[in-house]
Parts: sequence; structure tokens; C-alpha cells
Amino acid sequence: MKALILFSSRDGQTREIASYIANTLKAHQECDVINILHAQDVDWAQYDRVLIGASIRYGHFQPVVARFVKKHLVELQQRVSGFFSVNLTARKPEKRTPQTNAYTRKFLLQSPWQPDSCAVFAGALRYPRYGWFDRVMIQFIMRMTGGETDPHKEVEYTDWQQVERFAEEFAQMSSKSR
Ligand SMILES: Cc1cc2nc3c(=O)[nH]c(=O)nc-3n(C[C@H](O)[C@H](O)[C@H](O)COP(=O)(O)O)c2cc1C
Repeated sequence: MKALILFSSRDGQTREIASYIANTLKAHQECDVINILHAQDVDWAQYDRVLIGASIRYGHFQPVVARFVKKHLVELQQRVSGFFSVNLTARKPEKRTPQTNAYTRKFLLQSPWQPDSCAVFAGALRYPRYGWFDRVMIQFIMRMTGGETDPHKEVEYTDWQQVERFAEEFAQMSSKSR
């Protein structure tokens, strides 16, 4: 059986984290990584564990994530499953757990799917790649929350050791009998 990682990413950081986790999982079993936007026809019979990773924009995950969860609830519940969220609030370590990260806590409260494993990862801040509006908005948010405001900077806050630990723990979880 294989592992499946689905990601929802706007600027690429969640996709990078998904690839990193896949490399770790591949030491244990085969692993496919698919953009959740292109995951209409998943052949579930191939997979015994599934991870969904999603980033935050202006306070929200992409709606496709909740739609996917609703549509495939049974398949998710039948397998070892995990969720990870990616956002900039999590650059502060005290906001980097499912309980202390407001977006993740809200997702788990509202979701009919309760993943067996959950993590919050800090994302990346890449001012030069943003359009004018997003750059100004993010600068404003960073000013309010004591973060980086230099519009020439790119900062990656992701703690790759945390990602590695999560991936290893996920790989070690024993499969569910169906
Ligand atoms: C337009 C925009 C809006 C964002 N809004 C939020 C937000 O509301 N809260 C937050 O914590 N991070 C926010 N972020 C930060 C992203 O979650 C972070 O950059 C993450 O790495 C993006 O992941 P992705 O590249 O996979 O889309 C925002 C980023 C952008 C570019």
C-alpha cells in the first residue's frame, strides 16, 4: 500500500513541505503527492494513509479543502490520516500547535474529519513575489504583529526539523484494518 499527500498551496511553500514529507515517507513506503485541485479521481484502493496540507490566505484555507474532506470523509476515516496547516502566524512558536493556532483550531472544530495526526508549520514570507495589493496588506499585518516589513526580503520560517519529526511520526503510525 502507498501513502498519499494532497496539498493546497498558493505560492508553493505547502507544496515544498508536502514534497519534503514525501521524501521521508518514501523510506517506509511508496508515496504520491497530488495537488488537491487535481484530485478528483483518487484511486483510494492504493492507499492506506493520507495526509492533507493546506496554507492560509487572508484567514482562510482554500474552499477546495473543506469540499474534499466532505466528499471523501469515509475514505479519510478508513485510513491513517493527518492534516498540516501552513501560515505565517505560526512563525511564533507559541502559535504553532493545533490548539494554539487559531486557523487550525477552527478547522478541527468545524471539520467532520478528525485526523489521527495534526501539525502546524510556519510558512514563508516572499515580498518580491507578491503583487502590489498583497505586499501592502502583508506589510500592514507584519507591522501590526511585529514581523518583517522590508518589501525586498524573502524569509522562510518553516522549521524543517519539525516537519521531519512530524513525517517520521506519521510514517510510524500503524495502519488501520478495513
Ligand atoms: C496574500 C496573502 C495572504 C496571507 N494571509 C495570511 C493570514 O491571514 N494569516 C497567516 O498566518 N498567514 C497568511 N499568509 C501567509 C501564508 O500562509 C504563507 O506565506 C504560506 O507560506 C503560504 O503557503 P503557500 O505558498 O503554500 O500558499 C498570507 C500570505 C499571502 C501571500
